[in-house]
Amino acid sequence: MASNVETLIRGAVAKGIGKVADFNRRRLPRPTDAHPYLTGIHKPMEEELTLEALAVDGEIPAALSGRYLRNGPNPALPPDPASYHWFTGAGMVHGIRIEGGRAHWYRNRWVRGAEACAKLGEPVPPGPRAAEGFDAPNTNVVGLAGRTFAIVEAGGKPAELSDTLGTIAHNPFDGTLAGPYTAHPHHDPFANETHAITYQGDRPNMVWHVVLDADAHVIREEAVAVADGPSIHDCAITRNYALVFDLPVTFSMKSLLAGYRFPYAWNEAHPARVGLLPRAGAGSEILWVPVDPCYVFHPANAFETADGKVIVDVVAHDTMFAESKRGPDSPRSRMERWTIDPTADTTTRTVIHDHNQEFPRYDERRTTRSYRYIYSVALPDGAGELAIADTRLFRHDLENGTTETRDFGPGRHPGEFVFVPRSPEGAEGDGWLVGLVVNMNDETTDLVILNADDFMGPPQAVVHLPHRVPPGFHGNWVAD
Ligand SMILES: [Fe+2]
Repeated sequence: MASNVETLIRGAVAKGIGKVADFNRRRLPRPTDAHPYLTGIHKPMEEELTLEALAVDGEIPAALSGRYLRNGPNPALPPDPASYHWFTGAGMVHGIRIEGGRAHWYRNRWVRGAEACAKLGEPVPPGPRAAEGFDAPNTNVVGLAGRTFAIVEAGGKPAELSDTLGTIAHNPFDGTLAGPYTAHPHHDPFANETHAITYQGDRPNMVWHVVLDADAHVIREEAVAVADGPSIHDCAITRNYALVFDLPVTFSMKSLLAGYRFPYAWNEAHPARVGLLPRAGAGSEILWVPVDPCYVFHPANAFETADGKVIVDVVAHDTMFAESKRGPDSPRSRMERWTIDPTADTTTRTVIHDHNQEFPRYDERRTTRSYRYIYSVALPDGAGELAIADTRLFRHDLENGTTETRDFGPGRHPGEFVFVPRSPEGAEGDGWLVGLVVNMNDETTDLVILNADDFMGPPQAVVHLPHRVPPGFHGNWVAD
């Protein structure tokens, strides 16, 4: 439970806290090693590029017409390595335009918050935005209702981007969003609604279930009571429920006052539970079911069983943010299936695949329904900061209980791969997997298009970029 004192402090003297944090930030111990998220593969790009007529190996399917977009932190001005946290860097969106079997362009553009505008000498685009330093959404970039939005959790506002990745405006869905948003909205293809669970750093006692209609306008913003300010990165949906992952990573006043930029930490005192919120019900109708402590950034899909249980597949970390102040850290992560039984008040965790991994994606035409395949990115063996990706990509077959492992080879690091269906009506898995692979042997990057149903086979096509794209967070295919 967030202490009342803490809540009071935050409400009454927020500005004072900021001053204390600023003072202490200057006294943080100077790092004796290179910051893992500012050097090596993560070294930020320093300019915006427009590259046309990109080199391609293989054959880009004629049916692919749209943009592959990916967001990630990329400070515009050099940050202080003593306090920099990977999750707080200004967002930079990378995009590759594909049409007619050709790769027409690559662009990278900072999301125009105050920092990027200061560097570039531009006015900040209009619209409501979060405080400076948190006003350039850095976590995901999505196509909603024919528009493009860069998005982030914890109180940042969506930024609307043009087709060529310029920032049009800071735009909380045409003024329909009152509270915060998330980096992980989930579209229900059957109801044509987009669901999210959101939270805001300075409001520790509630989270919100936010639903967008087909025009990307908010039609529901329902508060759910929680304690301690949990950091709820993602959610999942079933036919009847939105799932709330209330897990033991919570707001840390200690970290904030110490001057750290990302004030969330592992909190053993915070009970771990999953909430089943009726999609149209009041926040008070949520069914909380306990789960053994762990942290989940990302679920894959979720669905309901005939006997009233909810199944959700997740990447579960044993702990998160327990040690590092520079980025995510984890002793171990695994792909798990959680069977949530609201009648028995239990969550049963079974291991699908026992290897460190992250960024699970699936054929999103199956959202809220049973499904067969998860595609995820391996993380390196061992515990610690999740500084770089492994070289491997997984394809989990939930029906056969098997996993295929595709290895890109030494020095070649895949990021999140997104599934793109070949046609709206095709069977699950009938499509392509699209993602970036950074080649640290020559500091270049490939956009790799795999046939999802020939996971181990040769790529369908590879688009070559002559520079290193720093690994970021999430990407999506935004079809025309
Ligand atoms: Fe995420």
